[in-house]
Amino acid sequence: MKKINVKKIILFLILIFLIVGIAIVIVNLKKENKLSETPELILKYQNAQVELNDEVYNLDYITKIENGHIITNKELVNTTRIGQKEVEIEVEDLSKQIKKITLYIDVVDTEKPTINFSKELNTLVGKEINLLNNVVVTDNSNETIIPTIEGDYDFKTAGTYNLFYVATDSSNNTTKESFILTVMEDKNNSDKTNTKSNSSSNTINPSTNQSSSKTTQNIQANSSSSQNSDSKTEDNSDNEVHFTTSKGFKGVTKNGVTYIDGYLVVNKTYSLPEDFGSKLTSETTDAFNKMKAAATLDGIKLWIQSGYRSYDLQKKLYNNYVNRDGKKEADTYSARPGHSEHQSGLAFDVNTIDDSFIGTPEAIWLSKNCYKYGFILRYPEGKTNETGYKYEPWHFRYVGKDLATKLYNNGNWITMEDYFGLTSTYSD
Ligand code: DAL
Ligand code: ZN
Repeated sequence: MKKINVKKIILFLILIFLIVGIAIVIVNLKKENKLSETPELILKYQNAQVELNDEVYNLDYITKIENGHIITNKELVNTTRIGQKEVEIEVEDLSKQIKKITLYIDVVDTEKPTINFSKELNTLVGKEINLLNNVVVTDNSNETIIPTIEGDYDFKTAGTYNLFYVATDSSNNTTKESFILTVMEDKNNSDKTNTKSNSSSNTINPSTNQSSSKTTQNIQANSSSSQNSDSKTEDNSDNEVHFTTSKGFKGVTKNGVTYIDGYLVVNKTYSLPEDFGSKLTSETTDAFNKMKAAATLDGIKLWIQSGYRSYDLQKKLYNNYVNRDGKKEADTYSARPGHSEHQSGLAFDVNTIDDSFIGTPEAIWLSKNCYKYGFILRYPEGKTNETGYKYEPWHFRYVGKDLATKLYNNGNWITMEDYFGLTSTYSD
C-alpha cells in the first residue's frame, strides 16, 4: 500500500511539473508573439539653432520615426524673436499609446545689417548737408537702426573726407561702409563763364539724328590733336581732326571734344577738356523727368544720385579711390579726370551707386525701359573689355531715342564702343 502511494505521489508531482513547465513555455511564447505584433516606437529628433525670421517648421527636426506616427500637425515656428523656443510634439506608437516630446529651437541673429547709401556725397563750403539723408539700414531683426558716422569732416573746409557709416543691430552685428564726402569751393560763377561755349555744344541733341557735319558747325574749332586711336586720323586746316572709326563712322575732335556720327563720346580713349560742362543738359534732365514719371506709375522710385561732375570733382574722387584701392583697381570703376561721362552733362547715376543695386526692381525696370526715354545702360554686364569699366546698373547716358533703341538691341545691350567701333583704353 505504502509503495503504491509513493509511486503515485511521484507521478503526480511529475505531472504537476510538466503542466507548470508547459504553462510557462506557453506564456513566454505568447509574450514574444505579442511583442512582435507591437514593436517598440523608435523616435529620433534634434534641437536646432536657426536664424531670426528663418522659415522653419515644428516637425523639421524629427530625424527618424519608426513603429509609430506623429499626431501633431506641421506648423511654422515663430522665429521673429531671439531666444529659445520649446516645441511640443505628440507621437502615437503602434499600441495607440501617445508620447509627448519637447525639442528646443534656439533663434539667433548672426546676420549683419545692410546699409544702402551713396558712396559719394558732394557739397559746397559752408553748405551743410545731412549725411544720413537717403541712408537706409535694413536688418533681419526689423529694428530701426540709425547708423553713426565715423571720421572727421568739416563743412567749412574744402576737402575730401573719407568717412564710414556704421550700423549695429541689437545682437551686436555690425556693418561698416566707407563713403566719400567732398566739400568743394564755390566756384560757380567762374565755372559758368568758362563753360558757356562748351555747354552749348554739349546740349546738342543726338536724338534729332544730326549728322556729324551739322554738329561740327556748332563748335568752335581750336583743337590741335585727336585722341582717336581706332582709325586713321587726318588733320585738316581748321584744327579739327577728322577720322573714320573701324566700323566706318565719321568722327571729329574739336576743342578737345570728340563726336562720332554727331554723338559726344567720352571714355578711356576720348577725354574732355578741363573746363568742359557745368550741369546736366536740359535734354538729359527733361528725359530723366519723363522716365521718372513713367517709373513712378510702375511703382519704381528713381532719383539722380550723382549728375554732372566737374573735372576737379572727378579728380578728387578718382585720387581718393586710387589711395584706397590702388590705381589698377580704381581704373576698373572710376574714370580719370577728364575721362568721366559725368563731365559731359549727359550722364548720371541713379539711386544707389554700389553693387547692392544689381538685380533690384529699379535696376531691372531701368534696363528694360530707359531706351524709351533716350537713355542707354552705358556699362552693361560682361562688356568690360569694350567699355573699360565694370558693370554699373546705375549709370545712364543720354543719346536720344534712335540710338538708344539700337543699342538696347531688344535687351541685349550693345556698347557705344562696339557700335561705333571705338576703343576705351588709356595710353599708359
Ligand atoms: N564710374 C564711371 C566710370 C565714372 O567714374 O565716370
Ligand atoms: Zn556714373
